[in-house]
Amino acid sequence: PNLEKEFLPMYFGWFLNRKTSENLRKIGQAFLDELGSSKAFKKESKHFAPAIEDPKLKIDLTSYFVKRPPSVLHCTTKYTDFGKAPGAEEYAQQEAVKAAYGKAFTLTISALFITTKTAGARVDLTDQDLLLWPNDVDKIQPTDNLPKGSRAHVTLGCASGIEAVQTGIDLLEFVKLEKAGNKGDEVGEIGGGKLQYFGNGMWMLLLSKKIEVKAVFTGYYG
Ligand code: 2AM
Repeated sequence: PNLEKEFLPMYFGWFLNRKTSENLRKIGQAFLDELGSSKAFKKESKHFAPAIEDPKLKIDLTSYFVKRPPSVLHCTTKYTDFGKAPGAEEYAQQEAVKAAYGKAFTLTISALFITTKTAGARVDLTDQDLLLWPNDVDKIQPTDNLPKGSRAHVTLGCASGIEAVQTGIDLLEFVKLEKAGNKGDEVGEIGGGKLQYFGNGMWMLLLSKKIEVKAVFTGYYG
């Protein structure tokens, strides 16, 4: 298909189906529940609830990340803003994008993470997935030089007042720390894998069994 420039979507991405989407939401909720009641998290809960001094009090992370994606979960490849975003047309015109439009993929989720702003799932992209990945999105500062696909994620939730675009930026912060040799403090195992703490309310669960989800590559028009 030819994606006409006057009709570019709000964004391109891989979209889970309804059932898989519900499953991943549940896995995310289970993670938030278990993390919120873990000893390691409670010790550091000041980042999430500065007002609560009692360390025994459980923080309800599910209600903390109050803004959840309205429809099925997805992994954004390129935010095109109906053609207004920089590089929108160039992206849509690529042969790889046109060829993949409407096709099914299997995405691999390797970790779940939260910061004080967002909750998300980290996506490991294959070489084939990377053909659809833009060149200009894996950086926070212009001088950042991170592996292609570093930003790939599924947003699971955002704290009050935070926009979804923040989840990818937060994931890039983790990747920058990893690249600088900071592996995070291993603070034990919780359901599904090893829990790492990077400080400042940045938690990541490395899944011992990666999650594979079917997803269709397409555009979202809102
Ligand atoms: P997300 O990919 O982190 O979830 C609609 O707002 C979707 O487009 C959301 O999924 C959102 O973030 C993504 N999005 C919004 N603005 C963006 C931007 N400037 N860059 C990249 N993705 C963006």
